[in-house]
Amino acid sequence: MPISGKTRVVVHLTYPAKHLRTPEFFNPLLERLGYDGVLVPWEVSPANLATAWEGLRGIENLAGVIVTVPHKLEVAKLCDELQGTARLLKVCNVAKRLPDGRFSGRMFDGDGFVGGLKKQGHDLTDKRVLLLGAGGAATGIAHALLAEAIQELVISNRTPAKAEALTRELRQMFPGRQINAGPADATGFDVVINGTALGLKPEDPLPLPVETLAPGTVVGEVVMNPDITPLLSAAAERGCVIHKGAHMITGQIDLLAEFLFSKTGV
Ligand SMILES: NC(=O)c1ccc[n+]([C@@H]2O[C@H](COP(=O)([O-])OP(=O)(O)OC[C@H]3O[C@@H](n4cnc5c(N)ncnc54)[C@H](OP(=O)(O)O)[C@@H]3O)[C@@H](O)[C@H]2O)c1
Repeated sequence: MPISGKTRVVVHLTYPAKHLRTPEFFNPLLERLGYDGVLVPWEVSPANLATAWEGLRGIENLAGVIVTVPHKLEVAKLCDELQGTARLLKVCNVAKRLPDGRFSGRMFDGDGFVGGLKKQGHDLTDKRVLLLGAGGAATGIAHALLAEAIQELVISNRTPAKAEALTRELRQMFPGRQINAGPADATGFDVVINGTALGLKPEDPLPLPVETLAPGTVVGEVVMNPDITPLLSAAAERGCVIHKGAHMITGQIDLLAEFLFSKTGV
């Protein structure tokens, strides 16, 4: 659909922007769904976020804002209301501009990751899952995993106190489930997920010792640039089943589009 005076704009707030892949998935989706909208990356540093946000309140043809690193926690604070997982986690990856200039935030990262796994045919029932990371993306994924019938979740993080705090919170929310903090060791796990930022920069170390990965283990990524991260490449060499970071966005773009554009919402 050609851009016209009726086109509604979605701003993608991120910093830096060069790694961004959402526009390549989101704009064709809007076209397919018949929504007259366009997604445009905005590279905004944390120091300028609050000023940029105030400006966005007055943009009347703004459908909303998609948010990635490093703004998810701050944008949750800038929103006027949070719904669902965003309210629970105080973190959001999308905010809809309401007609009066207020913003309503949601968090679809976790649902996107798990939805992406399911779309690729991975069944999580009774699986032992090792999740690396305890930041925004990993926290959302942990919640979405526990909404499935997994057998056990172990969370491993560079800063162990954050993994321990997250597991305590999750145990309260999901009583009776097996949820623990632990080392970055894939021995005995069916599914291993890199929920850290490691893999984005060429000099990054691997997020776990790959010699602990057994053939057949499903190894998933949140990092989607590069498409095949060093972890996925090493896992494939060891006979693991790899699951790219891009599936996390393809697993949630329908939800993002419906939230921002549909009259009925999601
Ligand atoms: N594919 C998608 O659709 C999608 C969606 C959302 C996010 N992501 C990706 O997910 C990644 C994480 O995003 P986020 O929002 O969760 O960020 P975040 O809240 O800043 O969390 C970063 C996580 O990475 C860990 N980490 C960072 N540097 C590390 C290092 N040098 N060694 C070990 N661990 C390190 C952090 O550990 P500490 O707690 O110890 O600092 C923390 O667990 C980003 O790469 C982002 O691009 C992808």
